[in-house]
Amino acid sequence: MSNDPRFLIPFEQGLVEPAESMLVIRPADAMGLSGFENVTIEQGFYPTAKALEGAGFAVSSHAEGRFGMALVNLTRAKAENLANIARASAMTDGVVLVNGAKTEGIESLLKAVKKITSVTVLSKAHGKVFWFDAAPMPAEWLAAGEMAANKDGFITAPGMFSSGKVDGGSALLAPHLEGLKGRVADLGAGWGWLAAQALGPDVLEMVLFEAEHKAVEAAKLNLTDERVRFEWADVLALPKQLPFDVVISNPPFHQSRTAEPGIGVGFIHAAAKLLKPKGRLLMVANRQLPYERTLEGAFRKVEMLRQTNGFKLFEASSPKR
Ligand SMILES: C[S@@+](CC[C@H](N)C(=O)[O-])C[C@H]1O[C@@H](n2cnc3c(N)ncnc32)[C@H](O)[C@@H]1O
Repeated sequence: MSNDPRFLIPFEQGLVEPAESMLVIRPADAMGLSGFENVTIEQGFYPTAKALEGAGFAVSSHAEGRFGMALVNLTRAKAENLANIARASAMTDGVVLVNGAKTEGIESLLKAVKKITSVTVLSKAHGKVFWFDAAPMPAEWLAAGEMAANKDGFITAPGMFSSGKVDGGSALLAPHLEGLKGRVADLGAGWGWLAAQALGPDVLEMVLFEAEHKAVEAAKLNLTDERVRFEWADVLALPKQLPFDVVISNPPFHQSRTAEPGIGVGFIHAAAKLLKPKGRLLMVANRQLPYERTLEGAFRKVEMLRQTNGFKLFEASSPKR
């Protein structure tokens, strides 16, 4: 069996013909895309978007236009996937392919699309690729992907971290953010709830760094104070900048389905680099993730502020140079 990406199989088997242009939503990488003409990629996750641009593709955080065909790669949020399928279908004149793993919910999306139009399916590598001729999809699929106020009154959209409600870890950290002074950075700021809690009267400037473009757009709607700036960026690759007095963070603990403590470790090193010599990092982490040694390696003083069943809160000050 070929090791090519799953979405290539229908082309290799002559079941689908390439079109003169192609929209590709949310690819994780460029694998298999170089053989197609006029590829437009929609990818809002900064590190992936920049890697795809580096590979020579046109990348947008929100694609528009008309395309000969479309390929929708799944994320882990069903509502986001339904909205992407509906958008892709509305922008396409030919075939729409949907590619995803079982763990991303490909089966239930296949079932949903089958109720609307006729679909062809192939299975490979714990997942499926299915395709159909572009057809109108339910308006509610599109609507469910839009920004809207969540139950805490903040604007979010499906696919963002904890889009439905305030994250439990962030809620634990919030009481420790009172009275912050000077320049404050939030690393992995999401749709901005934690930063909003930290924005007291003595904060001179606050910068929200976040990799997911749509989350940055939501944060802009949630924090309209003129002291706040927004950076669509990869925290693991930030350029040098004016140092901060305080960094706050609820760092990501995975990019895939399994825990990847390496990302949090990278966030801790990034915080140490961004801070003034006497600056402080206030962070919350999942309890089982081993960040103590990294914090002690990067800061002169490390204190555990609180531990619960699920989380640990740390204050680390005076980064080592
Ligand atoms: C655990 S969430 C915390 C979000 C928000 N601060 C909150 O408390 O709800 C971590 C955030 O980091 C973002 N993220 C993941 N990798 C990133 C990276 N390399 N650079 C910047 N942000 C990243 C994710 O998109 C997510 O919004």
